[in-house]
Amino acid sequence: MRRPSTTRGAERLARCFSIEDVARHARRRLPRGAAAYLEGGGLGEYTLRRNREAFERLELVPHMPRDVSRVDLRTTVLGRSLPLPFALSPVGAPRMFHHEGELAVARAAGRAGVPYGVSTLATTSVEAIATQSDAPLWYQLYIWGDRGEAREALMRARASGFEALLFSIDTNVRSKREREKRAGLELPLPDLSLPTFLDGVLHPEWSWRFLTSPTISFPNIGPADHRSREKLSEMFDGTVSWDDIEWIRELWDGPILAKGVLHPDEALQAAELGLDGVIVSNHGGRQLDHVPATIDVLPAIVEAAGDRLEVLVDSGFRRGTEIVTALALGARAVLLGRAHLYGLAAAGEAGVRHCIELLADEIEMTMALLGARSVEELNPSFVRLRSADRSAAGRSQVS
Ligand SMILES: Cc1cc2nc3c(=O)[nH]c(=O)nc-3n(C[C@H](O)[C@H](O)[C@H](O)COP(=O)(O)O)c2cc1C
Repeated sequence: MRRPSTTRGAERLARCFSIEDVARHARRRLPRGAAAYLEGGGLGEYTLRRNREAFERLELVPHMPRDVSRVDLRTTVLGRSLPLPFALSPVGAPRMFHHEGELAVARAAGRAGVPYGVSTLATTSVEAIATQSDAPLWYQLYIWGDRGEAREALMRARASGFEALLFSIDTNVRSKREREKRAGLELPLPDLSLPTFLDGVLHPEWSWRFLTSPTISFPNIGPADHRSREKLSEMFDGTVSWDDIEWIRELWDGPILAKGVLHPDEALQAAELGLDGVIVSNHGGRQLDHVPATIDVLPAIVEAAGDRLEVLVDSGFRRGTEIVTALALGARAVLLGRAHLYGLAAAGEAGVRHCIELLADEIEMTMALLGARSVEELNPSFVRLRSADRSAAGRSQVS
């Protein structure tokens, strides 16, 4: 007798002890185009690699022995107490990875109390997401030429109870993602060619779901039919600037964070404009190539932000140790992109839940081994440059 796919999914997850284990399952389930969209980076993918390599140069410094029988993972972001010090990054077209897309992610986030950033390029309406989950929801804003659609999307998200707005500043044009091109993917739909057809045949579970689910579209921006046909790369028009904050402020009375900050000057500008926070992000290495790893620029941005802005960070985080490193260097919370998408692709809602649990356990264990009993207790003295890099730089502190 064939076992139901949910049982097989649970068995798969039970053998996944790290995000990378989950990623291996995701890679097996996805056809080439979807996998390229998930994992690829911009141009030569230097930044994509740098996001991971940067953690190798950092060391954790335990402050032991301490009574760590209780470790408190709670943090406060934008005035809201959160049970875990991370959130899920906004992602376009999650239904490429699993037919339940945003709904699966939002339900998993809701169960864990983890905030979920929903992209302008979501493939599910903001209203449907809000009714299916009690996760704190954040709306990520992309703007194209005519601001009308953006205004409408903002108002719909706010009316649906979205709490914060993430204003993306790193995507005025879309980068060249060569893996996607080689795999014949021109979002939002795969090319219909012989290689993509054969690839679909080799991934029957994904293909069956893809073909029997409603066509992928972007119901939060404009009429569903026109947005489903237009190529994403043609929608970005390059006109977004800090000036846009003025009209956004008029429509959005909740907190606003700039997403894609990589330099202290951008943080200062965000503070000047009265924003509430910044997300230090290089878009997971998917936009401008050769920009620094976010963990490397985080301390200077935290310093520039002072107590005027909350600083969050994403790009490259796959381990609890890495999240703790960012918290120690001053981030309020870490956002996870691919680290939740692997779970979504591997097993839908249960997969995302598994990834959240894996990372929560790793964070708790890391903090206990470090001698940090609460997120509040973490500070830069828990992190230093690796000894070889220390002597090269002539200092021990990360700055
Ligand atoms: C498949 C995919 C789609 C993404 N789509 C968006 C998007 O629509 N809007 C956005 O602001 N960021 C988007 N991002 C970037 C994420 O929000 C986040 O900054 C990035 O994934 C963090 O890096 P990580 O994947 O290494 O964790 C996307 C990332 C991925 C992997």
